Amino acid sequence: MFKRFRRLRMNDTLRNLVQENVLSKDDFIYPLFVIEGENIKNEIKSMPEVFQMSIDIILKECEYLQKIGLNSIILFAIPKLKDSIGSECLDEQSLISRTIKAIKKEFPLMFIVTDLCFCEYTNHGHCGIIDPKTKSVHNDKTLEISAIQALIHAQAGADMIAPSGMMDGIIRTLRTALDENGFENLPIMAYSSKFASGYYGPFAQVAQSAPSYGDRKTYQMNPANRLEAINESLADEEEGADILMVKPALAFLDIIRDIRNNSKLPLAAYNVSGEYSMLKLAQKAGFIDYERVMMETLLGFKRAGANIIISYHAKEAIEILNKNKV
Ligand code: PBG
Ligand code: ZN
Repeated sequence: MFKRFRRLRMNDTLRNLVQENVLSKDDFIYPLFVIEGENIKNEIKSMPEVFQMSIDIILKECEYLQKIGLNSIILFAIPKLKDSIGSECLDEQSLISRTIKAIKKEFPLMFIVTDLCFCEYTNHGHCGIIDPKTKSVHNDKTLEISAIQALIHAQAGADMIAPSGMMDGIIRTLRTALDENGFENLPIMAYSSKFASGYYGPFAQVAQSAPSYGDRKTYQMNPANRLEAINESLADEEEGADILMVKPALAFLDIIRDIRNNSKLPLAAYNVSGEYSMLKLAQKAGFIDYERVMMETLLGFKRAGANIIISYHAKEAIEILNKNKV
């Protein structure tokens, strides 16, 4: 006798009954990029259908997103002014503050996550203040200004803060600053296992945040390391993170599973720019059944152990999920 696995694959209803993982529109956070100006919608060459948008266009986009049931976004701002410490984002009049307020005014139920980093705001493109001695990012000085940036986001009305700079102690620093200023109920999603990855390439083009010299290897993790990813995540949990994250997602599915098995916190997978571009460009070339490959990829993140998926595919994925609903 042998086991007949095919018995449970004989029709859709039965296959659905025994399906172990599902995608839902509630799983997604959709990245949006805001720039100064009016009526601006610049498509990114390496990321078809992803745009830099001015605030007025972002509002139109939010209206559509809510209509299809996409209620969570992560905001990245691309400011006009860049300097050595990223002053633009340390001011109440910053682009991201104005964007948060504008969205919240028209769409109070839109859940706004803010990416907290300095690479979009600094003229050197690194994720914090540069230590002139080492030419690398100064950890503790960057912590100080990160706390200021977090309060700017919180005061503008952000619903969750997501620090992405990979500074040590960032979660404890932000938790303390938020708590001391009456934001004890504002959650922090830690970019807890963020690898120094080539998959961020297209993002650097959208966010104009490529480092002008060197790389990010002194703060982001070595893609070869697995135990370190678990250690980073557990440290962020201990410092007070509410949600953990693995980034990138596709080449790091084992890490998603490792974190899932080592922590009880909710876990996000960041399906990054390069992962999006690969599928989009294969679609444009006619080489793959894009929708099928996209949904299979996203489902893979759930199967690996993620609860939340941050993805440039989110809008298309939800459109597909809405169509298939009975
Ligand atoms: C900022 C930041 C980056 C991404 C998210 N936040 C770029 C980087 O760390 O180099 C990457 C997102 C993507 O590639 O989609 N630190
Ligand atoms: Zn950064």
